[in-house]
Amino acid sequence: MAQIISLGDIAKYVGQEVTVRGWVYDRTDKGKLQFIMVRDGSGLTQAVAFKGNLSASDFETASRVTQESSVVISGTVKANERVKKGFPGGYEIDLKTFHLLQQAEDYPITPKEHGVEFLMDNRHLWLRSMRQWALLRIRATIVREMRNWLDDHDYLLVDTPIITPSAGEDTTSLFEIDYFGEPAFLAQTGQLYNEANMMAFGKVYCFGPTFRAEKSKTRRHLMEFWMLEPEMAFTSLEEMMDMEEQFVSHVVQRALEKHRKEFEILERDTAKLEKVLPPFPRISYDEAVERLHKLAAETSDPEQKELLKIEWGSDFGSPHETALTQMFDKPIFVYHYPTAVKAFYMQPVEGRPEVCRSVDLLAPEGYGEIIGGSERIYDAALIEQRVSQLGIQRQAYEWYLQLRKFGSVPHAGFGIGLERTVAWVCGLDHIREAIPYARMLNRKYP
Ligand code: 4AD
Ligand code: MG
Repeated sequence: MAQIISLGDIAKYVGQEVTVRGWVYDRTDKGKLQFIMVRDGSGLTQAVAFKGNLSASDFETASRVTQESSVVISGTVKANERVKKGFPGGYEIDLKTFHLLQQAEDYPITPKEHGVEFLMDNRHLWLRSMRQWALLRIRATIVREMRNWLDDHDYLLVDTPIITPSAGEDTTSLFEIDYFGEPAFLAQTGQLYNEANMMAFGKVYCFGPTFRAEKSKTRRHLMEFWMLEPEMAFTSLEEMMDMEEQFVSHVVQRALEKHRKEFEILERDTAKLEKVLPPFPRISYDEAVERLHKLAAETSDPEQKELLKIEWGSDFGSPHETALTQMFDKPIFVYHYPTAVKAFYMQPVEGRPEVCRSVDLLAPEGYGEIIGGSERIYDAALIEQRVSQLGIQRQAYEWYLQLRKFGSVPHAGFGIGLERTVAWVCGLDHIREAIPYARMLNRKYP
């Protein structure tokens, strides 16, 4: 058997005889010629079976092979610019042998159009399609580059628990579980533990799945999503914004460098991503509301006018975030939100306690919030008061309250939602494709 290669590396093997183990993506029957697209997880290439070049039985097998059958093939690699299809594209394999491992049954996902619900029901198979394959590779790079940036800037990865005794964010979206007869909750955030870890290590981050039982059926909400959360001691909101714009720009630029071809498959307009470089515009909540009022006043469409309505003091909904991000061609920071719409731990602005030292990062092109963060209350009495307002047994927070008694310091942190980031970077219409197996209001299968 010739050398086994990965199709992603096919360019290195031009002129050589190779073996590829994979799956049949597609087949075009031209009688004596069979054009078989083969994928192996790392790439996709055209394999050509010419009747005279294979044994009669191998050619016969190749002529009836079905979509997604598993195969081991060998032949000579050729560069061929006319082969546009495939990944990396521009190569083909002139087949000598064609061995079938398993002839696939009728594959439910065919090149014809399918409805999204059907595809989501078949998510375990849909992952094999080029579009899904491309975007999940970009997702992996986004994770790698987020972590690389933090590791290179001396943030320590400190893991936080998933099973927790108390709410981390709010009490309305908790998933409760039975912990040997006691109630416990799936983590909404790692933040509270991050704050303890920050006091031990200075700059930390956690990265893991988080859970929100949100009865929201929007294109931005999942019940289970991955969040990466840095937390840093002695850091102001402004310093954190400086850090966030460096961090986000790094991730986007590295994804662009590594995945030109994947972005092509996704038909993503990468010129828009190239603009994602520091500095990002920074606008206060007050200014954002003013801008929305102005936009609403100038809008002639009554439906749009209605959607843009907002009173000072309310949180932004998606139409507001969408409108705000469409005013800029970069991600934007919106800071100093009303204290009443944000989480219990956010530091009030000095002399103006109705707003807090919070900052969201809104992604452009209408994507909206991808990061939420703030300075944290570090005064013992104030945090105590806020926790008691949560209405959960105070004793579950004893450890958290202690942090303000043993060397409390100003500190800040944020959480970046992985799937919202992937949806934006990949230009997806809906967050459900940004995670391998989406958990949504009406879906936990497969
Ligand atoms: O703004 P959030 O709720 O902030 C926190 O949880 C803080 N404790 C983070 C911190 O400061 N350490 O969530 C942070 C981000 C959002 O900006 C969004 O990207 C994502 O998490 N997110 C969701 N993504 C998908 N589905 C949901 N239901 C999400 N809820 C939040
Ligand atoms: Mg938020």
